[in-house]
Amino acid sequence: MRTRPLKVALLGCGVVGSEVARIMTTHADDLAARIGAPVELAGVAVRRPSKVREGIDPALITTDATALVQRGDIDVVVEVIGGIEPARALITTAFENGASVVSANKALLAEGGAALHAAAEKYGRDLYYEAAVAGAIPLVRPLRESLAGDKVNRVLGIVNGTTNFILDKMDTSGAGYSEALDEATALGYAEADPTADVEGFDAAAKAAILAGIAFHTRVKIGDVHREGITEVTAADIASARRMGCTVKLLAICERAADGASVTARVHPAMIPLSHPLASVREAYNAVFVEAEAAGQLMFYGPGAGGSPTASAVLGDLVAVCRNKLGEATGPGESAYTRLPVSPMGEVVTRYHISLDVADKPGVLAQVATVFAEQGVSIDTVRQQGKDGEASLVVVTHRAPDAALSGTVEALRKLDTVRGVASIMRVEGE
Ligand code: NDP
Ligand code: HSE
Repeated sequence: MRTRPLKVALLGCGVVGSEVARIMTTHADDLAARIGAPVELAGVAVRRPSKVREGIDPALITTDATALVQRGDIDVVVEVIGGIEPARALITTAFENGASVVSANKALLAEGGAALHAAAEKYGRDLYYEAAVAGAIPLVRPLRESLAGDKVNRVLGIVNGTTNFILDKMDTSGAGYSEALDEATALGYAEADPTADVEGFDAAAKAAILAGIAFHTRVKIGDVHREGITEVTAADIASARRMGCTVKLLAICERAADGASVTARVHPAMIPLSHPLASVREAYNAVFVEAEAAGQLMFYGPGAGGSPTASAVLGDLVAVCRNKLGEATGPGESAYTRLPVSPMGEVVTRYHISLDVADKPGVLAQVATVFAEQGVSIDTVRQQGKDGEASLVVVTHRAPDAALSGTVEALRKLDTVRGVASIMRVEGE
């Protein structure tokens, strides 16, 4: 074993970074044995230098992250600051100055992953980011390496723990959205500003990363159709239950049947209780991968939290250090298929539509005519009437999303339709 240590610069020492530092210290001997050389924490960049950081030598703390990555003797930079800048500039500077990079930064990778991969290749460095998608769950490496000989056609999963916790609470306790969000905040799942989670930005970033790797093409966060969970009501959840379903925020990345394009979307959807994703509770994540030769694979586990996320970071650190010692690099970006990303309107899916209508002769026929005019076939209809008004729940067969949203638009214009109470896609059947 080499005795000269590999030097690691840690950028960020918050929820994830503090756990990375702890495991590097407590598991130092095992890590050295697995890598073939000891790893040494050479510096830790933070914003607030006076904050007490247990187990970390105060002499390692700096607020000058740029100087740390410019030192020239750093072998690996671990970026767990988050956000776009200064993370992007720091990673690029790290490559220029001889270091490979491990990052957990999904927002940055979904926005500027291609440029970062290009910079890594230019300077002959590694860029690894297992922790950026679904925390501890090994998913990036299986897609990038284990399935590199197969053809992935679909990735479907729950990739945001906060929203899964909220929807699970609404489902199991009958809580409303705000009440469930308050509980998620109190338990530390949701941040003070939960926008990135509840509006689907976090899941969309992960979907972009997954689609890019799975289909060997470039998918940016802006290519991902995104809807969050803020509009999901207790009535939607109850309606799902009546259909034998539950509601989940899903990330769905698909290759078109003709193989000529891909789609990526994040939205709440009803899935049957019999589907394995329906039993993913609390803040857990789970992802299905469908590949031509392998068939269906399911990955499940904790998708967030300091220690689980640090596990993924450390796995990457070991791989990158081994590559350094072997004077090699691991796989870079694979975007050779250059498949276009189709708009949401072309996605074929099913809708569950809940309407408030006048309860009088001919209304059902009027509603059915709108569906027929848009070329959308109805699967089931359930009506419940009360005092001259009725609630009508229509579930469609599969149709292009554009036809389904055209149907909803036309329904809203009918005098007899008092309102569209909820619209939700149905998946997983
Ligand atoms: P935190 O906010 O807990 O930590 C961020 C750290 O970065 C803090 O130590 C902060 O310093 C430091 N920092 C912020 N700005 C700067 C700067 N300009 N220069 C130097 N240091 C800076 O974030 P997390 O640990 O939760 O997340 C880190 C990354 O991991 C993000 O990309 C996130 O998306 C990703 N991730 C997080 C998961 C989680 O469960 N938390 C799960 C999966 C991925 P200070 O301590 O002084 O404030
Ligand atoms: N906020 C994210 C979640 C953290 O709730 O899943 C993990 O990426």
